[in-house]
Amino acid sequence: MKTIEIPREGRTPSQILIGAGAVAELSELVPAGRPLFVVTDPHLAEAYAELLAPYRKIIIGLGEEHKTLSTVEQIHTELIAAGADRCCYLVGFGGGIVTDITGFVASTYMRGVGFGFVATSLLAQVDASVGGKNGVNVGGYKNMVGVFNQPDFVLCDVALLDTLPRREFVAGLAEVVKSAVIGDAELFEILERTAVDELLANKELLSEVVARTVSVKARIVEADEREGGVRRLLNLGHTLAHAIEKCSRKWVHGEAVAIGTVMIGRAAVRAGVAESGVVERIGRLLERLELPTECDIPTEQLTAALRKDKKGSGDSIHVVWPCGVGSCRIQTLPFTELDELLK
Ligand SMILES: NC(=O)c1ccc[n+]([C@@H]2O[C@H](COP(=O)([O-])OP(=O)(O)OC[C@H]3O[C@@H](n4cnc5c(N)ncnc54)[C@H](O)[C@@H]3O)[C@@H](O)[C@H]2O)c1
Ligand SMILES: [Zn+2]
Repeated sequence: MKTIEIPREGRTPSQILIGAGAVAELSELVPAGRPLFVVTDPHLAEAYAELLAPYRKIIIGLGEEHKTLSTVEQIHTELIAAGADRCCYLVGFGGGIVTDITGFVASTYMRGVGFGFVATSLLAQVDASVGGKNGVNVGGYKNMVGVFNQPDFVLCDVALLDTLPRREFVAGLAEVVKSAVIGDAELFEILERTAVDELLANKELLSEVVARTVSVKARIVEADEREGGVRRLLNLGHTLAHAIEKCSRKWVHGEAVAIGTVMIGRAAVRAGVAESGVVERIGRLLERLELPTECDIPTEQLTAALRKDKKGSGDSIHVVWPCGVGSCRIQTLPFTELDELLK
């Protein structure tokens, strides 16, 4: 088992435990004698019925459309009905939707109660559960309302990924590649030698991949918890991914990130900021990991969606350039320049 710690002001560091079987630590990590509630979704409640049997459960709806303030209110109401006081403790057992909501509920219920996560999707293990951002969507806009607050612990049990649909697993790999490009060239090389089936079969290798990805994010979050600077690096491929997701429902988030990373890579070559061969190398790896690298949405449609998405942020945009494998750079660019580079 590997442990990564993220410092928290005035409190013990947030502990991230990674490995096959990590979920067995849950009973040790939750504070003894306090009323415990596990927040989860119907897929997980069914797949892990036995594991979750000893716990009181609050089950929320599936999908992004349930990541809302009304779901937050549903959980608050269930907690009140169960007589939960300030001593209660929440565990979010699920993917990024469950962990984002649980963190927000725990930060607001009675002005804040203790909480931890069992991250069950690859995306939640390497991204959503790490870094202390919790929140919900409002009026169709993603993550508009939320808080920064780190959980006491995150359990990343790679054995739980066996029940995750393959498409979700592969989509999570796009975030792994993203982090490798941002800050771990060796992780990139490991992935270049590995196929999806091998990752699923070899839990030691998968744990290593998850741990390295978490380390990249943990390093960045430690340096810039509230996204004033380097944390923006984590948006590599995401500006375009959000535009792709706005224009079409064909791709899930990770797939859009894969396409967005290659597109911004090509723009980086045109801007003269990328080493030669970098985009080809990133594209080859993403394809090897069964991810898409092209989309059929016209560029003008994408850039229009991008402007709409960034409404209110002026005429320019923060672009993350993949300059080399393991090295990225942030540049503020006028929209018009980015439009030209994307053509
Ligand atoms: N807080 C952050 O910093 C941060 C970062 C990245 C993403 N996010 C958020 O994460 C969310 C997406 O997370 P996600 O992709 O995990 O989505 P999700 O929570 O919807 O999970 C995806 C699907 O997989 C199922 N699932 C999850 N784990 C499973 C398992 N072990 N076995 C069987 N089924 C399983 C879920 O029930 C769901 O149907 C988005 O809302 C996004 O905004 C947050
Ligand atoms: Zn993402």
